Amino acid sequence: MDPIFVAEDINAGYGDVIIVQGVSIQLAEGETVAIVGPNGSGKSTLIKSFLGFARLFQGSVFYQGKDITGIASNRAVSLGIGYVPQINNVFLNLTTAENLDMGAYHRKGKASIKAGMAEIYDMFPELEARKNGLAGNLSGGERQMLAIARAMMAQPKVLFLDEPLASLSPKPASAILSKMENIRESGTAIIIVEQNVKKALSVSNRGYVLVNGTCAIEGDAASLFAEDSSKQRYLGLEAKKD
Ligand SMILES: Nc1ncnc2c1ncn2[C@@H]1O[C@H](COP(=O)(O)OP(=O)(O)OP(=O)(O)O)[C@@H](O)[C@H]1O
Ligand SMILES: [Mg+2]
Repeated sequence: MDPIFVAEDINAGYGDVIIVQGVSIQLAEGETVAIVGPNGSGKSTLIKSFLGFARLFQGSVFYQGKDITGIASNRAVSLGIGYVPQINNVFLNLTTAENLDMGAYHRKGKASIKAGMAEIYDMFPELEARKNGLAGNLSGGERQMLAIARAMMAQPKVLFLDEPLASLSPKPASAILSKMENIRESGTAIIIVEQNVKKALSVSNRGYVLVNGTCAIEGDAASLFAEDSSKQRYLGLEAKKD
């Protein structure tokens, strides 16, 4: 299938410091792709560089065949690229419904926003039950769900999730993974950045392993699973077990 998102030969970092070097990734329609690797390996920096949140020194980014290198994040959202950052991804002092509303800013007209909200509550019934409560009172898992739901309000065709499982216990982590499957089935391709390699690969078609800012290995999820254990340790694939 044609790739919906392509990043080629990316060098990215902050200020004058290059952190990610020569990384290329692709995402096909209908796919979930994992970007994994140890702490500080440049996973967040890589995806932030696509949207102007980190400095892009070199490389090209394509979405639906169009060159979007250096695009501003709000423009990316309106084209159909959703992004859930690793931290501070919900407004704690707003209600669940108000957070979702913030994700609908590019949708035209009250009817469209209302329809969008209904779709989101179908997909996330646990959020509908908490819609008038403050996001700050949600559990960690519910908050992560809200962050993802807010991004889905913009009807993305590609969704970047930066460590959606971070610090979640197994049950809420499984709930997030199952939402990811629903999202993919609904036609949104996903790139998930995770330290929890096993869980990320369990919902992914393919994966890229970043080590020290470069892509150490890439392959389909099954073959990455099967990497021998010494290599897994070297690659940080055993960073988190459960
Ligand atoms: N805003 C920033 N300014 C300068 N350096 C940064 C900034 N954010 C991250 N870094 C540095 O860039 C390197 C890569 O960080 P990055 O956040 O991309 O790693 P990561 O793979 O996402 O790690 P983690 O799994 O811990 O989230 C680290 O050395 C980090 O200290
Ligand atoms: Mg990160």
